Amino acid sequence: MTKIFLTRMIPGPALKELKKRKSLQIDIYEKDQKISHQELLKRVKGIDILIPLLTEKIDAQVMDAAGPQLKLISNYSVGFDNVDLEEAKKRGINVTNAPCCESSESVAEHAIAFIFALSHRIVEADAFVRSGKYKGWDPNLLTGTDLLGKTVGIVGSGRISSAIARRLHDGFGVKIIYTDIKRNKDFEKAYKAKYKTKEQLLKEADVVSLHVPLLPSTRHLISTKEFKLMKKTAFLVNTSRGPIVDELALIKALQKKQIGGAALDVYECEPSIDCNPRDNYELRKQPNVILTPHIASSTIEARQMMTTVVVKNILAYLNKKSLPNKVA
Ligand code: DGY
Repeated sequence: MTKIFLTRMIPGPALKELKKRKSLQIDIYEKDQKISHQELLKRVKGIDILIPLLTEKIDAQVMDAAGPQLKLISNYSVGFDNVDLEEAKKRGINVTNAPCCESSESVAEHAIAFIFALSHRIVEADAFVRSGKYKGWDPNLLTGTDLLGKTVGIVGSGRISSAIARRLHDGFGVKIIYTDIKRNKDFEKAYKAKYKTKEQLLKEADVVSLHVPLLPSTRHLISTKEFKLMKKTAFLVNTSRGPIVDELALIKALQKKQIGGAALDVYECEPSIDCNPRDNYELRKQPNVILTPHIASSTIEARQMMTTVVVKNILAYLNKKSLPNKVA
């Protein structure tokens, strides 16, 4: 009997595929909330396969609590910074993530919604009307900026970056520049994208959108020095992982009006939107900041497909095939 533990129910019909297999015993955490660390340590005992969410830190302690028979961690998430890959490798545990076309498209749509909402001041305008401040048409009321002809700087050139570049280049007359650890000629060709160093990109972009994984090398990729390079009118969009932006430096840059605004779906000290409560949740007070609760890939299409990918990874493992989304 192969034992599987799923830390919270996930959407879509794909789980049925596992449930109908008699050789599998599937235990699902019954509450619709994040499992506590203590409960997680109890429930993983003796399992062969773990399906965690990005909200669970899967470290040596969890792997030890599971036992040496744990051989697969099939993460229900594209990002895998919640899993200690080194510890997994040491123990011979395979780790897979759940990238899929649908979730890349959803994150791209969310990032683009952010870009338009910032440049047309949609969230500010909505608050303005709701609070009863609208008293009549005014040529200078909540003036925004057009995106047409502007330059969007994309950090990363993977699936999500491509989905953004395709839409912006083909549909909105936007110039695309990008930076990455190495040049991506296909990306350049497909979207007439120009490769830049990070510094050049920050200087030239009207919008900077971040699409890189959280790694030691990308932590605080955007900090004080980087904000100083950005245009005073530029917007920062982060739908990747919070710690890629130094949040305190962002707050300072906004207060000093070093940049034009920011839209964040992820936070450095998630789920808190402020690492240091003494800062009094400064981000919330900025009118030119849009905040969403880590939902960039939260669409029916993406969430269901992520379950399908998790199941595919498990089936490949059970059938002794090579794992399609192995990250360790
Ligand atoms: C992911 O999959 O990494 C997203 O951040 C959560 O849906």
